[in-house]
Amino acid sequence: MDGNGRWAIRRGLRRSAGHRAGVQAVRRVVEAAPDCGVTMLTLFAFSSDNWMRPRDEVKALMWMLRGYLRSETQRFIDSGARLLVIGRRDRLAAQLRAEIHRVERATADGRRLTVRIAIDYSSRDSILRAATTLPTGRVSSREDFARLLASPNAITDTAPVVSQVDLLIRTGGEQRLSDFMLWESAYAELLFSDLMWPEFAADDLRAAVEEFHRRERRFGALRNPKPGAASGQGET
Ligand code: IPE
Ligand code: MG
Repeated sequence: MDGNGRWAIRRGLRRSAGHRAGVQAVRRVVEAAPDCGVTMLTLFAFSSDNWMRPRDEVKALMWMLRGYLRSETQRFIDSGARLLVIGRRDRLAAQLRAEIHRVERATADGRRLTVRIAIDYSSRDSILRAATTLPTGRVSSREDFARLLASPNAITDTAPVVSQVDLLIRTGGEQRLSDFMLWESAYAELLFSDLMWPEFAADDLRAAVEEFHRRERRFGALRNPKPGAASGQGET
């Protein structure tokens, strides 16, 4: 979700107004997701590198995240959606941690859509942590490893595992991953949009999913392989 700050500055507003407008875009996208066939949506709200931003901006973002979690709980329950937060918790304020805990519990029965909000998230750090805490001999597959990549909180034990990202959308015109779901995005279809995040609407999500369905995914194999024809001539 990139481009909040630029969206605001272009309108002569403060960056925090851009973040507020960004929250509205989150509401639109979360609401539109199930109708687009999306059952799992991960939103990159605050990266571990975002701590380097000015103190006031960090404070405003944390305040808005807490407000979002609080204000959306009932809406999530009513729409059968589950909310989970991934990323480190130990550097978050106690009130935000408590809010996360509360909303994860309150929405734990949601099955129609899972929304994961990444806060203090770094994909490299989560890979590192998973690799250094590997239970010896018990991780035998990529799926098992992916299970370790989400934060190890009790409530997430029952969370659906994201072993692969199908579609990764980045708004704001930059074409980079910025430490987001690197392992899981091995074969993700990437879509870079020049829209600033506050401009991103339900129709843009719909169009992105349509574009995704037009892509041919080969996962390194050949197109429409004939049975038994797998050989060393893989395309990538
Ligand atoms: C939103 O956009 C990203 C976060 C919520 C941290 P930015 O704040 O990065 O906006 P730009 O890139 O400065 O426009
Ligand atoms: Mg940015």
